Amino acid sequence: MCWEKPETGGVSMLIILEKILISNLKKSTLNCMTSAKTHASLSVKTVIVPAAGMGTRFLPATKTIPKELLPVVDTPGIELIAQEAAQLGADKLAIITAPKKREVLAYFDRYPALETMLEARGKTHQLEKVRNTNNLPTPIAVEQTEPLGLGHAVGLAEQVLDDDENVVAVMLPDDLVLPMGVVVKMMEVRAQLGGSVLCAFEVPHEEVYNYGVFDIEDAPDYHGDYVVKKVRGMVEKPAVDDAPSNFVATGRYLLDRAIFDALQRITPGAGGELQLTDAIALLIDEGHPVHILVHDGKRHDLGNPGGYIPAVVDFGLADPVYGPHLKKVLREILDEHGA
Ligand code: G1P
Repeated sequence: MCWEKPETGGVSMLIILEKILISNLKKSTLNCMTSAKTHASLSVKTVIVPAAGMGTRFLPATKTIPKELLPVVDTPGIELIAQEAAQLGADKLAIITAPKKREVLAYFDRYPALETMLEARGKTHQLEKVRNTNNLPTPIAVEQTEPLGLGHAVGLAEQVLDDDENVVAVMLPDDLVLPMGVVVKMMEVRAQLGGSVLCAFEVPHEEVYNYGVFDIEDAPDYHGDYVVKKVRGMVEKPAVDDAPSNFVATGRYLLDRAIFDALQRITPGAGGELQLTDAIALLIDEGHPVHILVHDGKRHDLGNPGGYIPAVVDFGLADPVYGPHLKKVLREILDEHGA
C-alpha cells in the first residue's frame, strides 16, 4: 500500500458521515446518474453486497486477492456491482466484509497521489477511470467475523438502514446479471404487487442443486411486460429429484424490510448455514407476497474460473479497444485447439 488509508473494519460513524457528505457533494454534479434516478430512488436507498466469502473456488489467487477485486477486463467485479447500485439510485452500499478482506472497501477510497500524477501526465482517460468510483453509492463496511451463511450476512446490514427504509436490494457480486438493470424492473413489479421480488433464471434441471429453487404458479394479478410468477415456496440447494422447478435465484433480491425479522427466526439450513432462502420461505409461509421476475438476459458467475473466464471474454469482445484484436486472437486459439 502506498497511500494513506483510513481503517475500514466495522461501522465507523466518522467514516460513514464523511462519505455521506462527500457523496452528497458529488451528487450535485452527477447529471447523468441523476437522470437515471427514477421513482426507484425514492424507495431503495441501501444495496447490500455480501462480500465476506473466502473465495475457495478461486484459489490460489484468493489467498491474497479478494475475488471481488478480480478484474473483468480492467474493472473489478465489485465496481460493476456498485455501478448497478448507482443505476438503481441507491445512496449506500452496505458491503459485508470479513476481517481479512479490507482491500474491498479500500478500493473505493480516493487515491489523490495517483490522480495528481495522472493529471500532471495528461492521462485523462485513466484519470477518468480512477475517478469513476467517486461517483458511486457510499460504501459502508459491515464486518462479518464468522462465516455463518448468506442469511446471517444480509441480516447484519440492518444496522446501517435508516428508519424510513422499508425495502432493500441485495446484489451478490458473484452474479453478473446482464444487461444491467434488472432490479429497476423488479422495483416496477413491487410497485404493482407489493412484497418482495427476486430475479430468476431457468437452468437445466440437472443443475438446480447449486441454487435456491422456486416453487411457482401464475401471477394473474400482474399486468405488465415482464415474465412474473408468484412464489409458493423456496428451497435452498435441493437434490435434483426434490427440486420444485428449474427456476432458480440468481443474485438479485428486492426484499421488504420484514426480511430482517424473518432472518432472526431461522435456524441453520443447507450446509449448516443460515440461508437467505429459508428466511424468504418463512415470509411466504406467513403470507408475505413474493414474486420472481424471470430475467430476459444472461448471467456470468464470477465466483469461479469456469464462469469468470467467459465473463472476461464477453466484456473483452464488447470493448472498443480490446475487442477487435481479441476476436482475431480467439479465432486463432480456437483453431489451434481444433474447436
Ligand atoms: C447463493 C444463494 C442461492 C442462489 C445463488 C445464486 O448461493 O444461497 O439461493 O441461487 O447464490 O448465485 P451460493 O452460490 O452463494 O452458494
